[in-house]
Amino acid sequence: MKSNLAIIVLAAGKGKRMKSALPKILHPLLGEPQINYVIRAVSVLQPDLILVVAGKKSEELRRVLPETVKVIVQPEPLGTGDAVRCCLPELESFEGEVMVVNGDTPLITTETLTFLVRAHLKQGNEATMLTASPPDPTGYGRVVKRGEKVVKIVEEKDASLEEKKINEVNTGFYVFRKRALFNYLRKIKRTNQAGEYYLTDLIGLLVADGCQVGRVAAEDWRETVNVNSRRDLIEAQKVVQERINYFWLGEGVTIVSPELTYIGPEVKLARDVTIYPLSFLKGKTEVGEGSIIGPSVDLKDCQIGKRVTICYSWGEDAVIEDQAQVGPFARLRAGAHIEKKARVGTFVEIKKSKIGKESKVLHLSYLGDAIVGKKVNIGAGTITCNYDGKRKHPTIIEDEAFIGSDTMLVAPIKIGRGSVTGAGSVLNRDVPPSSLAIERSKQKIIESWVEKKKKKSLKKGGN
Ligand code: UD1
Ligand code: CA
Repeated sequence: MKSNLAIIVLAAGKGKRMKSALPKILHPLLGEPQINYVIRAVSVLQPDLILVVAGKKSEELRRVLPETVKVIVQPEPLGTGDAVRCCLPELESFEGEVMVVNGDTPLITTETLTFLVRAHLKQGNEATMLTASPPDPTGYGRVVKRGEKVVKIVEEKDASLEEKKINEVNTGFYVFRKRALFNYLRKIKRTNQAGEYYLTDLIGLLVADGCQVGRVAAEDWRETVNVNSRRDLIEAQKVVQERINYFWLGEGVTIVSPELTYIGPEVKLARDVTIYPLSFLKGKTEVGEGSIIGPSVDLKDCQIGKRVTICYSWGEDAVIEDQAQVGPFARLRAGAHIEKKARVGTFVEIKKSKIGKESKVLHLSYLGDAIVGKKVNIGAGTITCNYDGKRKHPTIIEDEAFIGSDTMLVAPIKIGRGSVTGAGSVLNRDVPPSSLAIERSKQKIIESWVEKKKKKSLKKGGN
């Protein structure tokens, strides 16, 4: 039953009901644009090509899509039929079946799509659509039938009172024989309430010409829910969140409160990871065996080793190696690399810096563009002054150095192996190994200063 398959994903609509500057299909579900859920589901079918129809903001869309997808621009959002028509030049030399899917239906699964393609090929249809029967069909196109035979699809806006009572709806997933698509797309008109070219009109036209049109019903109507508003988006997110979290529970991950844990679809977790509530794991974050994440941890594209603990912290593009400890209240920015058994504590910000094995930065510090060796102690309040207003400069702190509290390291600077810096020093010259660097004015003590001051003011008649 092998046949060539091309897939068209419609994603150029205005998305007016979102009331947003961001195109509807780019609104995120668990940190990832909703369009990518559809792309992932269709990619598993291994089609010969995937075309995504984009609107005016096609660059924004291009940026989030995988390279394997070709973006086709629909100059004006004149309707779903017009969107498909924009793809025809790309399909000129293609022979086979064309699947059309709406980009705003992120809960669809590959299983259901496979089921649709198989039915289409087996029944030898010119067109086959996926239908569903949601408890409330309002807003969807209704499937008008005579007996069990499909007659046409009527959109909510154009439906009669009688037709509105039909609860079998068009889900926005179809497979067409290429020729049928080419021949009948030419015939659709804009004579409807919305003034748009409806792709759905194709069904009625095909049936009227005596072509074989089939339909298969989705087993679970929730898979076909389309996201038109922010309310729909949050409902869809609940479903995705439950699917993902229960998957990981089955893989040996403890999620203390699945309702309060957000794990993106591309995240990978090892066995015996524990996640405490209010944690967000996004992008391509990976967490190794036995690590404890949360409460309140937000990580995007981070690599976390084994038996790491991290709580009340934020990280992006960071690497945390085995048995390191992070938080509470640490911020690991792009390029932060925390090596094995190192510790990063409270109110510490790290950017593009390596913290060596077993080193500690436990309180109130900023390290940027720094390379910190092994077993280094960074005292409270230490800051790498890495930016001179124009350029960034590096700081190198060699193994076993001891950086006193409140040291200002004016970069570029190197602190040699095993050296010590005095608390409160502002250092701007390299420190050789095994040395003390101290920059501080001498402390003065004036004994009995307080009493003397009091006496003086009494004499003046004060109190
Ligand atoms: C559409 C169907 C409806 C079905 C529902 C299922 C039509 C006319 N109606 O309605 O029968 O029940 O989906 O979810 O197709 N788009 C474009 N270019 C355009 C217009 C839309 O690319 O000019 C894209 C949108 O980005 C969206 C998809 O097509 O991803 C569907 O468009 P939308 O406006 O959401 O259609 P619905 O009113 O939901
Ligand atoms: Ca829609």
